[in-house]
Amino acid sequence: MTRFTFSLVRRSSSLLALALLAGTQGQTATPTAVPTLPPPSALITAQPIGDSIFPALGQAGLDVLNYDLDLFVDRPGRSELRGTVVLTVTATQPLPVLSLDFLGPQVLDVRWEGLPAPYRHDQTAGKLTIQPPQPLRPGTLARVTVRFAGKAGVRPDPDLPIDVGWQAVPAQGDRVGANFTLSEPDGTRTFLPVNDHPSDPATFTTRVTVPAGYTAAASGVERAEVAAPDGGRTFTFEQAQPIPTYTLAIHVNQFERVDAAAVPVGVAGSDVLRRDYFPVGTQADTRAAYTSTGEILKVLAEWFGPYPFSAYGSAIVTPRVPALETATLSTMPVTSSNTRVLVHETAHQWFGDQLTLADWSEVWLNEGFATYAELLWAQAQGEAGEDIVRGWYARAGRSQTRPLVATSEAQLFDTTAYIRGALALHAVRVTVDDAAFKGYLRGWVAGFHNRPVTTADLLAYTRTRLGATAGAALRLWAESPELPPFRKGKHRHIHRAQGGCACQATPHARCSSRCSSSRPSRRASSGRPSGRLLSPCTMGTKRNSGRAIRSRRAVKATTKSARSSKWALSSARSGKGSPDSRSISAGCGSKPSSSSLSRRDVSRKIDALGRV
Ligand code: ARG
Ligand code: ZN
Repeated sequence: MTRFTFSLVRRSSSLLALALLAGTQGQTATPTAVPTLPPPSALITAQPIGDSIFPALGQAGLDVLNYDLDLFVDRPGRSELRGTVVLTVTATQPLPVLSLDFLGPQVLDVRWEGLPAPYRHDQTAGKLTIQPPQPLRPGTLARVTVRFAGKAGVRPDPDLPIDVGWQAVPAQGDRVGANFTLSEPDGTRTFLPVNDHPSDPATFTTRVTVPAGYTAAASGVERAEVAAPDGGRTFTFEQAQPIPTYTLAIHVNQFERVDAAAVPVGVAGSDVLRRDYFPVGTQADTRAAYTSTGEILKVLAEWFGPYPFSAYGSAIVTPRVPALETATLSTMPVTSSNTRVLVHETAHQWFGDQLTLADWSEVWLNEGFATYAELLWAQAQGEAGEDIVRGWYARAGRSQTRPLVATSEAQLFDTTAYIRGALALHAVRVTVDDAAFKGYLRGWVAGFHNRPVTTADLLAYTRTRLGATAGAALRLWAESPELPPFRKGKHRHIHRAQGGCACQATPHARCSSRCSSSRPSRRASSGRPSGRLLSPCTMGTKRNSGRAIRSRRAVKATTKSARSSKWALSSARSGKGSPDSRSISAGCGSKPSSSSLSRRDVSRKIDALGRV
């Protein structure tokens, strides 16, 4: 709710008005210095990041480095919470005001470097505007403290019967009340003032105080557990690598924490700590899925490169919500507690959590890779990859399709993002052998995790790394309005977990000795041609003048400058070129894009997003 209108701000220049701004809203805050009132024009012109799906989110030029959060969950299961957060911020352009995303609890107090600062909280717009004593300039750091308390904000999900953000699970029967975050895409602003956009990841220190009998879990490594009043406890977690705001996990429940052996798949072979959190009373069959976590980390780290964080595990939740790739601690509903979903969420630790999106329209870069990981895992278990790919293709064919870059919120988590996205990667894979494909995946992560990614980046990288055929294949799958034809590649060998080889027409070098006999492969007799990937419609080259593409470019320009203080540019990004800025347009026919999802799609997504 807007407590002070701009007209009041415009008219006010007196100390009385200042006291209202900094004092009345601050309740307990008495200004110790007298800041000047915000120039109205500066308040009004704070520019959002310019996301093509969520144009109001974030602030252009703001770079949050760290959120240091003290959260108190006094009554688990209810939506009320209270806390204090200290944001360490810098800017990539002079910022006369700070504009944070915050739908959530009421603001009690705002301080700039410890001194009361004028602010305006518009809960309807979800913006907390703060007036610094002087503009925040590039190269300078500031600490901004916000104290808040009350009911969490509400951010409905248009496609699912849930609100995203702070979840309150009331006590029911034997079940005690609980809370957790489920924030993709922009729910973190329901409980925390944030620059709520994946292009501005930050580190987090999270202290959560819970009542007696409760445990808190959060993204990062647990650093401390100390007694709090009335038998409560305060848990401290440190997430030392930057993560997007939506991937911050916070869980409060009566948990049993189960530690497992560390897995040496971190950076430079470092140990990744393993811990899972099961609500007390979790059934054995739910727990069983999580015994594979270590093996999943090993298989995925082999394909994607070192696991990016210091810990990994899952926190299990009881409501039937979508699973979510919360950083270092996937949020896993009981109903999705199976290996496939766990593989998917684990893969997101690389794709989404480490590699971050420049714009929400690019979300297939998360979902397509995470879905593809399901195939890589299945193959590592000795399953036939072709069957999975054929299943994906059939499923994609039953759904409406669209180019991979989304143009509306309803498209973000649709079949195209997951399944066509995965098929696009498969189309690249079949143009090369698996060693090259592995290098390609590892190179994408290693070269591009240091600033937000776009489809244009992936297209340019694919062409540079794997050549024109792979680049054209990806471009077709990314841009064609219709579903591209299903083509099998030349490299149809499948490595199995135990070193087995399915001997195909062109066995991989690793398999060739085993395959030198004339033992026919299961697939060799299928008669299906190992045809080329391109269809005639790949050749359409009309320049794309679409709004989404234009706004992506604008975002990229903004993001590039916005990130420069935190992230060095990667040399691997050179070579982005004009050919990829052209789109497939003519001669392919077109099916209308999906703008809303069927009931079946909804329940499928909730149970296990992206399943064949
Ligand atoms: N990223 C999640 C997953 O696929 C899906 C989240 C869906 N969220 C939503 N608000 N619809 O693992
Ligand atoms: Zn996913």
